[in-house]
Amino acid sequence: MKKTLLSLALLCSGIFANAQKETSLSIKPAGDQMVSKHIYGHFSEHLGRCIYDGFWVDENSTIPNKGRIRLDVVAALKKIKVPNLRWPGGCFADEYHWRDGIGPRNQRPKMVNTNWGGVVEDNSFGTHEFLDLCKMLDCEPYIAGNVGSGTVEEMAKWVEYLNFDGVSPMTAIRKQNGMEKPWKVTFWGVGNESWGCGGNMTADYYSDLYRRYATYARDYAGAPLKRIASGANAEDYKWTETCMKNIGAGRMWGLTLHYYTLPTGKWDAKGSATKFDEEQYFNTMKNCLRMEEIVTKHSEIMDKYDPKKKVALIVDEWGIWTDVEPGTNPGFLYQQNSLRDALIAGTTLNIFNNHSDRVRMANLAQTINVLQALILTEKDKMLLTPTYHVFDLYKAHMDAKYLPINFTSPDYTLGDKKIPALNVSASQDSTGAIHISLVNLDPKNKISLNTDLGELKWKTVTGQILTSANLTDVNTFTAANKVQNAKFNGAKKSGNSLKVELPAQSVVVLELK
Ligand code: AHR
Repeated sequence: MKKTLLSLALLCSGIFANAQKETSLSIKPAGDQMVSKHIYGHFSEHLGRCIYDGFWVDENSTIPNKGRIRLDVVAALKKIKVPNLRWPGGCFADEYHWRDGIGPRNQRPKMVNTNWGGVVEDNSFGTHEFLDLCKMLDCEPYIAGNVGSGTVEEMAKWVEYLNFDGVSPMTAIRKQNGMEKPWKVTFWGVGNESWGCGGNMTADYYSDLYRRYATYARDYAGAPLKRIASGANAEDYKWTETCMKNIGAGRMWGLTLHYYTLPTGKWDAKGSATKFDEEQYFNTMKNCLRMEEIVTKHSEIMDKYDPKKKVALIVDEWGIWTDVEPGTNPGFLYQQNSLRDALIAGTTLNIFNNHSDRVRMANLAQTINVLQALILTEKDKMLLTPTYHVFDLYKAHMDAKYLPINFTSPDYTLGDKKIPALNVSASQDSTGAIHISLVNLDPKNKISLNTDLGELKWKTVTGQILTSANLTDVNTFTAANKVQNAKFNGAKKSGNSLKVELPAQSVVVLELK
């Protein structure tokens, strides 16, 4: 009898150890904080096949295009409402001389793209072409000016060419090139990675240069510049401190931050985009989650110098960076995109939404055929990656009011290591609809959620989910829709509580109306 009772007790303790505990979330009503749509920005550099073979096709291409800009790509990007596009780099920006990219194309000089594969850049895609693209996408241009190898005069004249609506040498050339009225570009980057490929400067030296370049990049009527200083790499908090102190909050609209998720954490062997085991997946996600701490600590430094949060923290390069696809040019940074990458996108965007008091702009690197791409192309074929589908789900948060959330995440454990399995963000749009984005990083266990919405009123819940059988699943040119969004039926209303069964390795966005 004693033995039977003991076995029963052991059995019960086993059952309870494996039982799914319900996770409680509470969501509070909105205050004034907005989730800026510019958090959902993208990046197009003259790198590999992003511009050439991505956005831009050959003169005689049979791929449907308007003025050499691919129409299938434009349609896909319009669907996710791309709010801004960063160009021409990246490292390329600090070697780019804008006057080489205007005027008759057959007269434009060629150059060598020293940063990316040493290929010939024919300058056929320049200022007018980029701004035509932005017009087709209905998005705002974000141009990075050349500080590393360009002059103050060169940058000043580019701004005059773009934004002045009067009589001047630059506007005369613009008109001669077919553009009567200025474009009125406002997002203006003063250099890129000035601590590295943008000139290998010290933060003190860069801050002085910033002040000088930014002075002569003038505000013209109707186009006040949002000047953006080249900020820190990952945990380089000293860079942020120096820029905030030396440049000062009144002289910049934003300060950037670059952080890439490396699966192994090592630049010389980053790890494959498609072949990884659970151990490497776990480490990748741990590296991805570092964004939370990095953004928090940079924000704290900015708060010291700018307590009113006037200066935006702009994460204008982020995403997973793996080894290139075998057999492709190592300088072109072409990588596949798996369900794992979609979980990175969902997680990172949740982090940005939850820091939207300071993070008011971000740009995934990069839009087409480079790093964590939204789109891959192969001649006339185009596919949408799992990451694209996350942006399609999360567009509901753009320019919506931020809703504060409180919860304690269950752990995702692997051996004796653990990370938070769950991340969430929520917002309320101008129609009153509430959107909640949930990511479960655990590849084996679902999460049961009970959400208390307090004073927030709603009647119905619908949702969409992105998941797949394997973390390594990708979309290919022969199976382009293997990983895609589907209807989600795992959420229901119970009183004013929301019950959700969140499947393993999934991104879910719910709409409450
Ligand atoms: O996105 C690829 C490169 O990464 C960019 O050109 C550079 O700014 C960063 O180092």
